[in-house]
Order: sequence, then C-alpha cells, then structure tokens
Amino acid sequence: MMFEKWVSTILLLQFCCVGCGFCGKVLVWPCEMSHWLNLKTILEELLQRRHEVTILTSSQTFLVDYHKPSAFNFEVIFVSGNQEDAEKSINYFLDLAVNIMPTLSLWESAKLFQNFFLEATEQFEEVCRKAVYNESLMEKLRETKYDVMVIDPVLSCGELVAVHGQHYREILWATSSCLPSYVPVSMGGLTDRMTFMERLKNMMFTLFFDFLLLPYTYQNVLPTTFCESMGKAEIWLIQTYWDFEFPRPYLPNFEFVGGLHCKPAKPLPKEMEDFVQSSGEDGVVVFSLGSMVKNLREERANFIASALAQLPQKVLWRYKGKKPATLGANTRIFDWLPQNDLLGHPKTKAFITHGGTNGIYEAIYHGIPMVGIPMFADQPDNIAHMKAKGAAVEVNFNTMTSADLLSALRTVIYQPSYKENAMRLSRIHHDQPIKPLDRAVFWIEFVMRHKGYHSLDVIGFLLACVATAIFMVTKCCLFSCQKIVKTGKKKKRE
Ligand SMILES: *[C@@H]1O[C@H](CO)[C@@H](O)[C@H](O)[C@H]1NC(C)=O
Repeated sequence: MMFEKWVSTILLLQFCCVGCGFCGKVLVWPCEMSHWLNLKTILEELLQRRHEVTILTSSQTFLVDYHKPSAFNFEVIFVSGNQEDAEKSINYFLDLAVNIMPTLSLWESAKLFQNFFLEATEQFEEVCRKAVYNESLMEKLRETKYDVMVIDPVLSCGELVAVHGQHYREILWATSSCLPSYVPVSMGGLTDRMTFMERLKNMMFTLFFDFLLLPYTYQNVLPTTFCESMGKAEIWLIQTYWDFEFPRPYLPNFEFVGGLHCKPAKPLPKEMEDFVQSSGEDGVVVFSLGSMVKNLREERANFIASALAQLPQKVLWRYKGKKPATLGANTRIFDWLPQNDLLGHPKTKAFITHGGTNGIYEAIYHGIPMVGIPMFADQPDNIAHMKAKGAAVEVNFNTMTSADLLSALRTVIYQPSYKENAMRLSRIHHDQPIKPLDRAVFWIEFVMRHKGYHSLDVIGFLLACVATAIFMVTKCCLFSCQKIVKTGKKKKRE
C-alpha cells in the first residue's frame, strides 16, 4: 500500500514536471463570438498544464462570464455599457449584415458598414482607454510579471496593453490576414485563382480596409500603428491549416493550428439518437447558421423549411425563431445541437452551415460535405475555400429559393465527388505528426520558456557585435597609446 502510494506520488510529480516543466503566468486579451470559444480550448489546456491564466475583459461582454466561479482569473475593465448594450449592438450588426446591407448598392453598404465600424470602434476605444490609461491597472499587470500575453487581434487593443506593459511576450491568435495583391483579401469571398475583375475587387477591398477602416482604430489611443504593434508578436497562431488554405507566402513565426477544438464524436442523447436512427439508409442532414443568427424573417424560414421537407433525409435544424408553417415531418428544430457529435455520426450525409471556421473545421475533421450559406465577416471566404476544394456548394442567402437550396443539398449528398473531397480534406487534417492544440500550447510555452521567438539570437548577435566593437576600439586605443608613449620616449631621448 505504502509503496503504491509512493509510486503514484512520484508519477504525479513526474507528470507535473512533464506537463509543465515550467509553470507560467498567462495574460489573455480575448474577443467575443466564436473566437472566444476557440481560444478557450487553448486556455483550458494551459490550465490543465498548471499555468496561471488571467483574462482581461470589459464589463460589457456577453460571452466571457466573469461572474461565475472559474479556474481562470479575471481582470475586469469597467465601462459605461452593460451586457444588454453589448447584445443590442451585436443584434444590430447582424440585422445590418444579414438583412439591410444585401439590399443596398455596394457603395451604400460600404458606407453603412464604415459607419457601423466607426461607432463600434468608439465603444471599443472606451474599453481600450480604460485599460491602457488606468495606471493602477497597468501597474498591477506589470507587477504580476506575466510570462506571455495571448491576444485575439480581431478588435485591436491587446497589443497596446502589451506594448504599454512593455515586457510581455505576445502570442496572437488570428485568422490569417494577408497583404500581397494576389492573395485573396479577407471578406472578399475569393480564391487563389482570380480573374482580372476579381483581382480588381481584391485590390479595392485591400484599399478599403487599409485606408478607410484601419486608420481610425489605433491612433486615437496610443501613437502607434497597426503594423508596428502587430510586428511585435513573437508567434502568430493561425486558425486554419493546409486542408483549408491556398498556397501563399507567410512569415516564419506563423503556426497553422486550425481545427484545434475538434474531437472524436461522443454518443448522442437518447432521443436524438433515436431520431437519427429512424432515418434509415437515407441518413441525416445537420443544419446550423451558428450561435449568432437566432432569428430569420418568416418568409425566409418558410422556404428553407419547405426545401428541407422535400428531402428523404431527416434534418436536425438549430433554430430559435418561430416554428415555420412549412416545416416537414422529417425536420426537427432544436435550440442547440451537439454539432461535433452529430457531424461525427455515421448517418450524417451533409452539413448546412453559415461558414464559420469552427463548424467548417468540424465538418473537415469528420469528412462531411457542406452546403454553405455565408452571411458576413469571414464566412464568404471560408465557403469559397471549401467550394474551391470541391467539398461544398454555396447558396446565396439573399437570393436563394427553395429550389436552389434543395438542388444544392441533392448535389452534395448524391454526387460522390463532394463526399470524396471532404474525406480527402479530413485525411489531410488528420495526417499531422502533432495535433494542432498541442502545437498551439507548445509554442505558447516555448515563448514563455525562452522569452521570445527570435529575440535571443538577435540579442546574442547584437551583444557579439558590441563586444567585438569594444574589443577593437580598446585594442586600437591601446596600440596608438603605446605608439604615442614610445614616440614620446624617443623624442625625449633625442
Ligand atoms: C483602475 O483599475 C483598478 C484595478 O483593476 C480598478 O480597481 C479601478 O476601478 C480602475 N479605475 C478606473 C477609473 O476604471
């Protein structure tokens, strides 16, 4: 007994040493929405490995629940708005992106988007000011001596806190952002094979983002530029991988860790499993427009439901709005779906998705072909990637009819190439020597252990340069001094 205990203690000790040869302090600047869910996976792994994780969050947040007891520490930045305001502005954004902008001309919608962006930036700037200009908060963060700061750079400011805090090493968790003109720009919905007109659009989008949006975001708080503060990051964790990306140039400190939240499927709840099994040979279709879109216009919900009703498959639809009148007997509505477990179910034939990265990665992981209904942000890009790889069909949310949706679904279910391509992406995804989550955590720990990715060698080189220079100067001085002394002596003798 005694012996056994000893063994287990030693194992535990060893486990601790292996698990966290170095237990550090991590400061986190998160972002709302699906980004937070994804980042949380990494942070929970860091907790598991006994690092101390502190999350900087504004009081106006609706995902990061800092009231609940948690293994994370929270440092709350109090602002005038509350959770309700946050939800209101998210809902307005959704309405704008999903319902209003598509009915306007490109120019009008760009103007409207810019207005919204500026307003949101103002709100966000308040949070940023209250963080960066609160000396006692900054002092507290400095005194805690964090080893690393993990930042979601979607909404800028985290890097300002890091720059102001001076000594943190940063890790950025990001969607890939690209500059060269032949790489499709974010939100353009383009692929790497562009026609002249598409490249023109690509360039216009780049200019729009660089000159109309970005200048407003940073300079009001601290006089630093986007590139300058972003350039200080030690590692970029990119939330995609080569199953998803097109070939393109990238920096050596980019680490592609897409799909790190994916897991093998767990069994479904009994009732859901029964419904799925009742589909027989035809199988099921999983349908979700993500956690943000809760409501659709009634007519739209109706023709979606009537398209689904014509399928021989059973459909599981995540939807919180009013039950559509045309809902078929084969379709069931749920408030929430265990999406990953459903996509990993052997009966699942297709996934209807808005094209968020998390959902797309779950589909890639389990090899499920997709029908994409992208609405805003990076969704059109993500679906464009999946379309180009032959694993998805896109339907336009604003112009689609019942027939369009039905024919898209039939295509991905009955044309074997879609399933084959989805399986090919899945094989590529699984063919990695180290899992993406482990790689993400490895690089965060690496930065903590070595205090940086490239600084040590650079500092070493600079020190060597300085040492050589000092050595040479001293040698020269000594040499000339000796000369002077000698000639002086000579003169005296003469
Ligand atoms: C500044 O930060 C401290 C420590 O987090 C906090 O107690 C204080 O309320 C903040 N002050 C302002 C004006 O927000």
